Formats: sequence, structure tokens, C-alpha cells
Amino acid sequence: MKILVTGGAGFIGSAVVRRAVADGLSVVNLDALTYAASLENVAGVADSPLYSFEHADIRDRAALDRIFATHAPDAVMHLAAESHVDRSIDGPGDFIETNITGTYNLLEAARAYWQKAGKPEGFRFHHISTDEVYGSLPADPSVMFTEETGYDPRSPYSASKASSDHLVRAWGETYGLPVVLTNCSNNYGPYHFPEKLIPVTILNALAGKPLPIYGDGSNIRDWLYVEDHADALLLVLQKGALGRSYNIGGENERTNLELVRTICGILDELRPGPAPYADLITFVTDRPGHDARYAIDATRIREELGWRPSVTVEEGLRRTVQWYLDNESWWRPLQERSGVGQRLGVAL
Ligand SMILES: NC(=O)c1ccc[n+]([C@@H]2O[C@H](COP(=O)([O-])OP(=O)(O)OC[C@H]3O[C@@H](n4cnc5c(N)ncnc54)[C@H](O)[C@@H]3O)[C@@H](O)[C@H]2O)c1
Repeated sequence: MKILVTGGAGFIGSAVVRRAVADGLSVVNLDALTYAASLENVAGVADSPLYSFEHADIRDRAALDRIFATHAPDAVMHLAAESHVDRSIDGPGDFIETNITGTYNLLEAARAYWQKAGKPEGFRFHHISTDEVYGSLPADPSVMFTEETGYDPRSPYSASKASSDHLVRAWGETYGLPVVLTNCSNNYGPYHFPEKLIPVTILNALAGKPLPIYGDGSNIRDWLYVEDHADALLLVLQKGALGRSYNIGGENERTNLELVRTICGILDELRPGPAPYADLITFVTDRPGHDARYAIDATRIREELGWRPSVTVEEGLRRTVQWYLDNESWWRPLQERSGVGQRLGVAL
């Protein structure tokens, strides 16, 4: 099987690429190499005969047509996106262009290719999306996002992802394109770009800098270890029912404050500093429209496909902290990129 993975030089896409190649699948990694990308993320598979790279932008339809014709993939896994909510508040334009128009281009290129090939039944267009399309939940633990939850996106990022989900479903219904969708919770793990909460916390702590917590830190997220997620995505691609969507969660709800305290405790153990790292916790102005809680009901993927996360958040965080301690040569250069280390997403 040959898979065209978009966004394969990013955080989750690169985990999918690494896992797919390890599983003996062929991968074409299509990526525009924006600020969020690093080819270091896939350096371990770059020399594999199963791997090839296409430097291309999903907004460029001609490039997409050429790539489909050249590689003749059996499936598409679409992860390329602008992904940082704070950046979407400061500059929504790129999110509209890549996440909506780019997805439209990719759907059209995939449809043209699939139709020309005689509509092979086994072809799949797997769209990777987020639980943020469902909006914000109350604290009540019995209320969770299911695949039937109505869409209620509240940030430019989540609205652009919701739009792309609608386009993918429409291409499935209208043109018969064989689509499958997944909506997952917050990922974390190795190669997480150093502007997101978990890497920021680890790296600021190591530098003795304040550990910023938005608002009072009571916002709840469900944390999914990225390698578990990559396994789930490849399973859905190969076994998921046509036209169906699957929620993927980590069964690990934590408040942001609990999460940061856990990371501090792990660092106190693995790299003890002069004082407990939790002393660096600093509460800062909240993100505008900050969703209170996300929580995934993953019954469908568990019951229909037999998937469950393998890693608890304590174990996953320990692995992640150790990875950042061992891989300074990866994260240090990324901290020089535009906007990293600055407070973003407060412009109103
Ligand atoms: N990170 C999370 O916690 C999370 C949670 C839910 C859903 N998702 C979704 O998963 C996908 C991957 O997320 P991520 O965290 O790996 O993102 P990321 O920002 O780390 O990587 C995105 C990748 O897409 C590429 N890209 C961006 N614009 C492009 C364009 N116009 N053409 C081609 N490539 C382009 C970037 O260069 C980068 O390599 C996204 O669709 C995101 O919405 C992420």
C-alpha cells in the first residue's frame, strides 16, 4: 500500500510517516515546510526505499495533480494544516487558505485522480481533524464529545478545521469519494513543536524561565500520546468503515495546571534544579474564547476497531520529558523560528 501523507514533516504527520514505514507501507510525504515543519522529524526513515518526499503546497492544485500522477497512491492521509490556535487568533488568513482552500484543492485533485483510475474501491481519503470542532464542554465528566455531537467551533482554527470536515463529508456524499474522518484530542510526545504547552513547559523549566498558564489553569484537555494516535490513524485508514468518522482520545483528562505540575514533578526527578520547578508557574492573561473543556468518548473506535490508547499520561509525559532532555539538538534551532517563545493570540 502506498500512502500520500500531507503534513508529514509536522508533529503528528511525522509520527504517522515513521510508523507507516516501520510497518512496511510506502509513504509519499507531501509538505510545504512551513515554520512548524522539520525534516529532522523523518530523518530516521529518509533513506528507506519505502519513503519519498515532495516539497509542495496543498494550495497549489497543479503540484497536487503532478504528485498524484507521479506516485499513484492507494490512499491519502491528510494532516497538513495550520494548527496553532494562538496563531489563528493573530492571523486567521493562513488558516482559511490552507485548512479550507487547501483541503478543497486536495479533495479535487484526489477526486480527479480516483475517477481517472476507474474509481478503485479500495482508495481512501482519510481526513485528520480535531475535537475542537465540537466546541467547549462543561466540567461535568459524564458529558463528552461523541461522533454525533453537533459542530460548534469557537476559534478561527477550529472553524477552519470544521469547514474542512464538512467539505470532506460533502465530497464523500456528492461524488462518492471514499472518505473516512477522525477527530482527536490534544496530542503530545516526541517532536512536538516548541510553541505548544507541553514543550514550552519543559523547555522553559530547563531554562529557569516562567511557566505560563493561561487564565487560572482550570481548562481541561484530554491528552493523547502521539505514537498511540499514529497507530489509531493507520488502523482507521485500513479498517475504518467508509464514510464513517471516529473520535480518538487518550482517556487522560487533566486541567492545564495539573498537567504542568506533573511535568514539573518529573523534571524534579530526572533533572533536579535548585528549587522545585513548580515555583516557576506563572498565571498569565487567558486566551480570548478559551474553550473550558474537551473530552472524547472513544467508544466507537474501541468497539468497532478494537483500539485503545496504550500509554497513560504519566508514562507518556515521562517519555516525553526524557526525549526533550536527550534531543536538545532538535529543539534548540526551532526556538529561533518566528514567534516561538513569544506570547501570541492576545490581539483583539
Ligand atoms: N497537535 C494536536 O494536538 C492536534 C489535535 C487534533 C488534530 N490535529 C490535526 O492534526 C493535523 C496535524 O497536526 P500537527 O500538530 O502535526 O500540526 P503541525 O503544525 O505540527 O504540522 C503541520 C504540517 O503541515 C504542513 N503544512 C502546513 N501548511 C501546509 C500547506 N499549505 N501545504 C502543505 N503542507 C502544509 C507544515 O509544514 C507542517 O509540517 C492537523 O490537521 C491538525 O489540525 C492536531
